[in-house]
Amino acid sequence: MSTAAENPNLMEALVSLAKRRGFIYPSSEIYGGLNGFFDYGPLGAELKRNIRDCWWRDMVHRRDDIVGLESSIIMHPKVWEASGHVAGFTDPLVDCKVSKQRYRADQLFFAAVEVFKGITETEGARTVHRVEGSSVTEPYMAAHADVEIIGYVSALESERTKEELQEKAEALKRKKSAKGILHAVKVREFTEATPEEIPLIPSPATGEPGSLTPPRAFNMMFETNVGALKDASSVAYLRPETAQGMFVDFKNVIDTTRVKLPFGIAQIGKSFRNEITPRNFIFRSREFEQMEMEYFIHPDADWLACHEEWLKWCQDWLRSIGLPASHLSLYEHPKEKLAFYSRRTVDIMFRYPFGVQELWGIAARSDYDLQQHQKHSGVPQTWFDEATKQKVVPHVIEPAVGVDRIFLAVLCAGYAEEDVKDEKGNVEKRTVLRLSPRLAPVKVAVLPLLKNKEALTNRARALYKKLQQRYAVQYDDGGAIGKRYRRQDEAGTPWCVTIDFDTIEKPGDTFTLRDRDSMSQKRITEAELFALLEQQVY
Ligand code: GAP
Repeated sequence: MSTAAENPNLMEALVSLAKRRGFIYPSSEIYGGLNGFFDYGPLGAELKRNIRDCWWRDMVHRRDDIVGLESSIIMHPKVWEASGHVAGFTDPLVDCKVSKQRYRADQLFFAAVEVFKGITETEGARTVHRVEGSSVTEPYMAAHADVEIIGYVSALESERTKEELQEKAEALKRKKSAKGILHAVKVREFTEATPEEIPLIPSPATGEPGSLTPPRAFNMMFETNVGALKDASSVAYLRPETAQGMFVDFKNVIDTTRVKLPFGIAQIGKSFRNEITPRNFIFRSREFEQMEMEYFIHPDADWLACHEEWLKWCQDWLRSIGLPASHLSLYEHPKEKLAFYSRRTVDIMFRYPFGVQELWGIAARSDYDLQQHQKHSGVPQTWFDEATKQKVVPHVIEPAVGVDRIFLAVLCAGYAEEDVKDEKGNVEKRTVLRLSPRLAPVKVAVLPLLKNKEALTNRARALYKKLQQRYAVQYDDGGAIGKRYRRQDEAGTPWCVTIDFDTIEKPGDTFTLRDRDSMSQKRITEAELFALLEQQVY
């Protein structure tokens, strides 16, 4: 069996499956596509909806302390001034003046290629460095030996950034026929390059130095104009996060519902960011969907404990939708790199095929946003504390996740290629998407054994129609039964039921239930099938 960890071409295989089976298409494909935008096809739309629905049910319906919201995508431009996005929602942009490529400086890495005076020799299996005849260690050399910088190398962020820089350093030393011992590269972010170093760092596009510009702040908000006039007064923004909707409607929610601290406001919706480098399929796109929840707590409450609770809740939830714990890890943002609004952020990371990357950010935003809106709007953003008879501005814990990133994670974790035997015992390859029944786009496929036997198709149709009232199901009578199973395996359908001659000829009205993952089959009644679905699809 080949899985995410073992298949180096997993992303390619996934992109191909996503297109072939109608999960994801490039946006506007007939016009050549638009970088950073995607369409979700029939299966993709279902899977995405199931991710949203599961989150909404667990986050809103099944809790007493959280209410939902759907705010507008375009809000008053002052919202984004108050939130700090107009001034600070930027990424450091670097241009390559020759290739016209653009890079994010924090995703571009470089190293000085340092050569020490001395020689490297091989003694048996050992590599020995000698400076002026004496054998020395690398740390000794770094501290004492004379060093010459023979040039610079650069590479984009990847799982192999360090190795790539080291290989390029070795190549540069060979190209320059430089004598001496090549030191292990010290990887640095382009944001740390000094003005003297920038002209010496090669562009990843051309391999030549001299064309990269110093980083400059690039605001990622998409601008638009509201109304008939196109001037400075009509400028508005497509929201870059759903979160501000919850802050701006905080007063409306407390005035129109019976919520009491602590409580949360949750929202699912589209967000837009003019990402400098959209990449890794739907991982980083320019239009994406967020599921965010702002949990308002009393300023005197133990915010750290609350933050920990939400961190646990989010991890448990990811496991409930089938993401394996082995693919999940945590990343605590260092204090000096926290976003402008955060006092602590921990990301839940997922092991994607292109590296371990952020899936879900859980931030402690203090009272930053409500204070800002209070200041900029002049409207108090307070909650009346009955116990102390005081008005307080609540603090906030925010779990914020992207639907598309979860979508990609479940595809990556669920994808497998296996060697299996067909009915005649021949080995064939099957591609299977092991999606949790909660998320699977199709819960059950109903398959009459033969297409032209009315007794079979009538029973199959009747079952299909009944299932259809509650679940997303498919009726498939095309081709050999084995082929139909494979089709459903690729779509991630957890179960197939086959209506065969035993169904119509033997007592009990049973069908064959075929399990996607084990491929095992057993007979089951209609009542048992509904009971199984009731238990697994929640
Ligand atoms: N309100 C806080 C906020 O928006 P964020 O870390 O910028 O925080 C939250 O975004 C989540 O939204 C991320 O963890 C990620 O899952 C998703 N996300 C952010 N930018 C994205 C992009 N360009 N494409 C897809 N998903 C994105």
